[in-house]
Amino acid sequence: MTAPLLIARNVVAGYVAGLPIVHDVSCEVSPGEIVTIIGPNGAGKSTFLKAIAGLVRFEGGSVTHDGRDVSGLPAHEMVRVGVGFVPQTGNIFTNLSIHENLVLGGHTLAAQELKRRLARAYDVSPFLAGRKTSLGRVLSGGQRQMLAVARALMTDPKLIMLDEPTAGLAPKVVDEVFADLRRLAQSGVAVLMVEQNAKAALRISDRGYVLAEGRNRMQGKAADLLTDSAVGEAFLGGRKHAS
Ligand SMILES: Nc1ncnc2c1ncn2[C@@H]1O[C@H](COP(=O)(O)OP(=O)(O)OP(=O)(O)O)[C@@H](O)[C@H]1O
Ligand SMILES: [Mg+2]
Repeated sequence: MTAPLLIARNVVAGYVAGLPIVHDVSCEVSPGEIVTIIGPNGAGKSTFLKAIAGLVRFEGGSVTHDGRDVSGLPAHEMVRVGVGFVPQTGNIFTNLSIHENLVLGGHTLAAQELKRRLARAYDVSPFLAGRKTSLGRVLSGGQRQMLAVARALMTDPKLIMLDEPTAGLAPKVVDEVFADLRRLAQSGVAVLMVEQNAKAALRISDRGYVLAEGRNRMQGKAADLLTDSAVGEAFLGGRKHAS
C-alpha cells in the first residue's frame, strides 16, 4: 500500500475553547483510497472534517498532509496545500451556469491550466460535460452535489473531503455521485467522506471508521465493517437521519 497522504492523530477540536467535541480522533487516507466515516448523529463526524479543513478550533493532536504538518492551518491555507472540502450544502452558485461555477472554482489559474482542469472536471463527471450552460438553480440535489465535487476539483486537491455527499438523494442518484467519486479515486485523489448512507458508502470504500461520542469506536476494511454484526446492528440498519 502507498504511504498515507493524510495522517490525523489524536485530533481534539470543537467550537468553544476548552469544550472539545472531537476527542483524540485519528484517521489516515492514502492516495487513490476512499475512506468513509460513519456514526450516529452528533458523533462529531462533521466537526472532525471541519477540524482538518481549518474551519473549527483545533485544540490538540496533529494533522500531516503530504508529509507536511498542517495542524490547525486556516481554511484558505488548507486549500493551497491541496485539501478540498465539500460541505453538505450551499456549495454552488445557483444563479450561475455549471461552466461558470467551475471557472470560478479555478479563478486564480492561468488560462492554460484553467483549461486543463476544466477538462478534467468534465472527465470525472460526464453529466456536467453535457450540461455546461445549465444554471445551478435548475439542477437537482444530486446534480448540485456533482457540481460541488467538480468545483472543488478545480483547485487540484490531492485529498477531497465530503460531508454527506448523498444526503437526501434518490438511490439511483446516490449511485451516480458515488460513481464520480470512484472515478476521482481512480485518478489518484484521496477521498475522505462522512456518510449517513453507511451501507452504500462502505460498498464503494476501501476502509471505514466508526465515530461515536467524539471518539474513534471502530475501524477496518470497508468489506469487514459491512459484515461486522456490531456495526450492522448499530449503524447499518434503517436508522433515520434526525437532523
Ligand atoms: N456550530 C456549532 N456550534 C456549537 N456546537 C456545535 C456546532 N455544530 C455542531 N455542534 C455540536 O457538536 C456536536 C457534534 O456535531 P457534528 O455536527 O460534528 O456531528 P455529526 O456526527 O456530523 O452529526 P450528524 O450525523 O447529525 O451530521 C453536536 O453535539 C452538535 O450539537
Ligand atoms: Mg454531520
